[in-house]
Amino acid sequence: MKQQPKIIIAIDGYSSTGKSSFAKLIAERLGYIHLDSGALYRAVTLYGLRKGAIGDGKIDKDALVALLPGLEVSQSPCTCIFDENVEGLIRQMEVSRFASPVSAIAEVRNFVDDNLHRMASGGGVVMDGRDIGTTVFPNAELKIFMQADDLVRAMRRYRETSDPGVTFIDVLHSLRERDLRDSNREVSPLRKADDAIVLDNTCMTMEDEIEWLVNLLNEKYGFSL
Ligand code: DC
Repeated sequence: MKQQPKIIIAIDGYSSTGKSSFAKLIAERLGYIHLDSGALYRAVTLYGLRKGAIGDGKIDKDALVALLPGLEVSQSPCTCIFDENVEGLIRQMEVSRFASPVSAIAEVRNFVDDNLHRMASGGGVVMDGRDIGTTVFPNAELKIFMQADDLVRAMRRYRETSDPGVTFIDVLHSLRERDLRDSNREVSPLRKADDAIVLDNTCMTMEDEIEWLVNLLNEKYGFSL
C-alpha cells in the first residue's frame, strides 16, 4: 500500500449512526489505528461496577473518581482493562445503562481524554465519539459529524436486538433520550464542530459512505486511494 499522510480524523455524531463501524473500516483502508472513545467510557463503567463504585442503580462519584489513578485502559485494537480483553463485556446491558451518566463526570472525561492523547500520539488515527472534534482533538485535520433520521437509526438498532421483549418504540424512546442527554450535558456535550463536515447517512449504505470519504480524502487531503 502506498504510504498515506498521517492525519487525525475525528468522527463525532449521534448514537446508532454507525460511527464506530465506519471509523474501523476507514482505519483499515488507510492503515491507521482506530480508537473508539465510547469503549473507554464503557471500560471505566465496567471497572466501577466490578469495584462496587457503581451498584444498586447508583453511581458513587467520589468512589469512582478515586479508582481512576489505579486504572489502566488501552485499545490495541481490543479494549483492555490492564491486560484483560473486555471488548465483549463492555457491550452488556448493565454497562450500557451506566456509561452515559459515567461519561458526564468531568474527572472521567479527563481520564479518557488523557488516554486518547497517549494512544494517538503517533498520528495516523481515526477516532470516534461525541466530542473528538470539539474537545479531544480540536485541531484534527479532518472532522466528520455523522447524523441520520432518528427513525432510521432506531430501526437499525432494533434489527440488531435479540431480546424479543424489546419493541421498536422502546428502542426509539431510549435513542431519543440518549440524544437529549448527550447533547445537553454540562461537560463536553455532543455538538458539531464549526469546521466539521456533515455526513447524513439516512439513505446511504456503508459502501456509499466509504466512497464519499475516499473522494474527500483524495480531493481535499492529497491521499491516493
Ligand atoms: O458510543 P458508545 O455508546 O459506545 O458510548 C458510550 C457512552 O459514552 C455514551 O453514553 C456516550 C458517551 N461518550 C461520550 O460522552 N463521549 C465520547 N467521546 C464517546 C462516548
